[in-house]
Parts: sequence; C-alpha cells; structure tokens
Amino acid sequence: MRLAWLTDVHLDRVDGLAVDQLSRRIAATAPDAVLVTGDISVAPRLGADLERLLGAFRAPVYLVAGNHDYWGADVTTVRRFLTQLPRVEPRLRWLGSHEPILLDAERALVGVDGWADARLGEGERSALRLADYHHIADLRGDFGAALARARELADADAAQLRALLERALRLRPHVFVATHLPPFAEAARHQGRVAKPAVLPWVTSKAVGDVLLEAADRHAGRRLTVLAGHMHHPAHVWMRPNLEVRTGPAEYGAPRIGEVLVLEGA
Ligand SMILES: [Fe+2]
Ligand SMILES: [Fe+2]
Repeated sequence: MRLAWLTDVHLDRVDGLAVDQLSRRIAATAPDAVLVTGDISVAPRLGADLERLLGAFRAPVYLVAGNHDYWGADVTTVRRFLTQLPRVEPRLRWLGSHEPILLDAERALVGVDGWADARLGEGERSALRLADYHHIADLRGDFGAALARARELADADAAQLRALLERALRLRPHVFVATHLPPFAEAARHQGRVAKPAVLPWVTSKAVGDVLLEAADRHAGRRLTVLAGHMHHPAHVWMRPNLEVRTGPAEYGAPRIGEVLVLEGA
C-alpha cells in the first residue's frame, strides 16, 4: 500500500502548469491512494484546482480542508461543495463526510478538518489575529463572537473524530488520522522549535488533541498515526507509545509531495 501524502500545496499560488507537474510527480510515485491534509487552494478555485491535480494519475484522493480552503466563502457553502465532490469526481473523498476508509487489512483512515481553537499557549489573550477572521465569512465581525464560532467548529470536528475513531479502531488495529491543524503544541513547530505562546492558539486544535489522547489511552493495544499540516514546517512527535503525530513540510509557490508512506503488511 503506497500512500502519497501532500499538505499545504496552496495551488492558488501557482499556475496551472505547476499543478500539472505536481500531478505527474504524484503519478510517478505509483500511489494506491493520495492524501491531502488541507490548504489545497482557496474556496472559489478549489474545484478547478482539484480537477487539475487529478489529471495525471488514477488513484483515489482523500482530503481534509484547511483554513485557506474556506477563504472567500462561508463554512456551510464549502462543506456542501466538499460533501458532493464524489458525485462530480468519484475519486475525490472529503474525509469530513466519510466513514472510515479501510486502507488494507491492518489500517484504516479517518479525518476531520480541525479549527484553531485558541486554547493552547496564550489562548485568547494572544494579540495576534489569524487572517481567517477576515477571509472566512463566518469569522468576520465581532472578535468574541467569531472566536466562539471557531470553537464551536473545533468542538464539532473533535466530536465527529471521537465517533469515527471508535468505529475505525473496532475495524483495524492501526488508524491514520488526517487533520489540518496540529493537535498538540509539540507538533506545531517552526524551524524545529515549538511555536511561540502568542502563535500557538492559532496553529493548534486542542479539541482534536484531547480526543486523540483519550482514544490512545482507551485503546492501548491499538495504534494511531496523525498526519497534519498548517505549519509548513515538519514535526514528528510521540504523544503516547501508541500515538504518533507528524506535521508535514510545505512552501508557498513550490507544491510538492511531502512523503510516500509505504505501508507493509504485518
Ligand atoms: Fe498552509
Ligand atoms: Fe493552514
């Protein structure tokens, strides 16, 4: 099982020929499946960029949306679009509306987008503001109300992940979890160092992290591998002996394959 993992490709920042080139590079890795952990493009271009990305290979693409994928629209509109993707292109699956994917005899894949919930580091006392609060319709206006809305979205995704994990862990001993925001401070690194306390609230989803710790502790004989993005800087940490978190690298204007995970049979 070869799983090509990409994150934060930001296809709106490159021309179509660069998307074609990325598609050919994906094809060259002969993947059985492709996983994209968010920040694919921006909402108005998401469909066209995904279609072009699919051009050179036949493998299915599993994805979660990142904060940038909601830019230029509102959450309901983007999620309606993501939910109906398989009807337009059967190879595209938004994990947010999907039951666990059975990758092979050992492994399943689940995912939720995740939202920055401002509960780590300086929390809501941080003086920094995410550009999401300007570019996503639901998060505009009064900051207190917008933050409450972001936390509602974060908590809803975390609750959905809890249910998905229970089902997936019954089906397979090793579950991959795709999510855009790093769920722990330890996985939110910039040039190797944990993000600063003022930055952490906007680059992590603690709600998702709490669900992961709870599931890992409850299922000590099972294994969880989390694949995240958003930082554009890599991290690889073990939060429990059975809970591993990887955050993928990325660079604006230079979309690439983060890693091809080769999953061997037990
Ligand atoms: Fe990004
Ligand atoms: Fe992001």
